[in-house]
Amino acid sequence: MNKVLITGTGFYVPSDVISNAEIVESFNAYVALFNAEHALAIENGTVEALRESSSAFIVKASGVENRHVIDKKHILDPLLMRPLLPERDNDALSLQAEMAVKSALKALHKAGKQASDVDMLVVSCSTLQRAYPGIAMEVQAALGCGGYAFDMNVACSSATFGMQTIVNALKVGAAKVALLISPEICSGHMSFCDRDSHFLFGDASSAMVLETPETCQVDNPFEVVSIRLQTQYSNNIRNNFGFLNWTCPATAQARDKWFIQKGRTVFKEVIPMAAKMLSQHLSDEGIVDVKRLWLHQANKNMNDLIAYKILGHEASVAEAPLVLDRYGNTASAGSIICFDHYHDDLATGDYGLLSSFGAGYSIGSVILKRC
Ligand SMILES: CC(C)(COP(=O)(O)OP(=O)(O)OC[C@H]1O[C@@H](n2cnc3c(N)ncnc32)[C@H](O)[C@@H]1OP(=O)(O)O)[C@@H](O)C(=O)NCCC(=O)NCCS
Repeated sequence: MNKVLITGTGFYVPSDVISNAEIVESFNAYVALFNAEHALAIENGTVEALRESSSAFIVKASGVENRHVIDKKHILDPLLMRPLLPERDNDALSLQAEMAVKSALKALHKAGKQASDVDMLVVSCSTLQRAYPGIAMEVQAALGCGGYAFDMNVACSSATFGMQTIVNALKVGAAKVALLISPEICSGHMSFCDRDSHFLFGDASSAMVLETPETCQVDNPFEVVSIRLQTQYSNNIRNNFGFLNWTCPATAQARDKWFIQKGRTVFKEVIPMAAKMLSQHLSDEGIVDVKRLWLHQANKNMNDLIAYKILGHEASVAEAPLVLDRYGNTASAGSIICFDHYHDDLATGDYGLLSSFGAGYSIGSVILKRC
């Protein structure tokens, strides 16, 4: 069986940035408009008044300080509260493919590869812009890759589950050089009017080149030592948007057609599940000294607790770095972006653990070793 190496990663974020102060100001303006419009009904008790959001709460509860988005202007408009992303002509590159291409070019450059070297391309992310043809095939054509391409979706664990699919293909020789891309347009699947979650997400795309030693052109890549995946059905994080919505017009616009979660329950259930699985994985592989945790980037408090349970002590910034503070929760792209930012300092022989945990529930655990 072939060894599989990560030889390059890259990411793309749109240039628009929204700070907590800005997102709270727009949310509170929306609340004031709503409460004024429904003043009578609120007084009668038939409509519940909306409550304001606060920057202090957001930082304390999540650790998010900024998020990059494709369309700041309309998201912050209290009369709109959503991005406006005009549909493109079928002959033009789609928005999601464009983000994917931008991140992929960076990963290819780091790996010293041409797009034509790639013979397997997986676009794996939590929301896909259309049903078909696959975004992956569009990216394959736009870049000029060969071989085969397909889309996958395992919510926040799309990238780690995608890695497993690619590693299997490379190990048995079904492909030689693979691209894994996670273009996440999170601002399109969430409600900016929802006080519980309006601050959580950002838009981003991550990309990773995986290949075997035979074609590797970089010094000190990372070997994929072992991958473990786990799923357990849960209704606590849902998005009911889908192709059957139009067949039921009465509920087509209902709140559950965007991201919705029982945040506190998710917090309580996912921490022990993830900590147990990640710790067990390291212990089964006989790894006692893990230098870095590239954890899923959804919530700082969750990561602090999971890292504590794995390491047995409070994690330093170097042990469990964060990128969610500047990018928000970027779904499956988050831990790959974290890896992209924080891997250069690891020495030959050092181990790191890349992970994801999210809707499904789904958990992915990937042990990496610096060559
Ligand atoms: C979403 C999340 C940040 C919320 O944090 P939390 O500490 O659990 O917050 P809670 O929902 O328990 O609310 C705590 C209090 O803050 C209030 N609150 C909620 N949103 C608020 C906001 N935007 N501004 C101010 N206060 C707010 C609540 O009303 C509540 O106060 P109350 O009890 O007086 O009503 C957190 O639960 C979380 O990140 N969960 C895991 C999410 C996750 O990883 N999901 C995977 C997605 S991919």
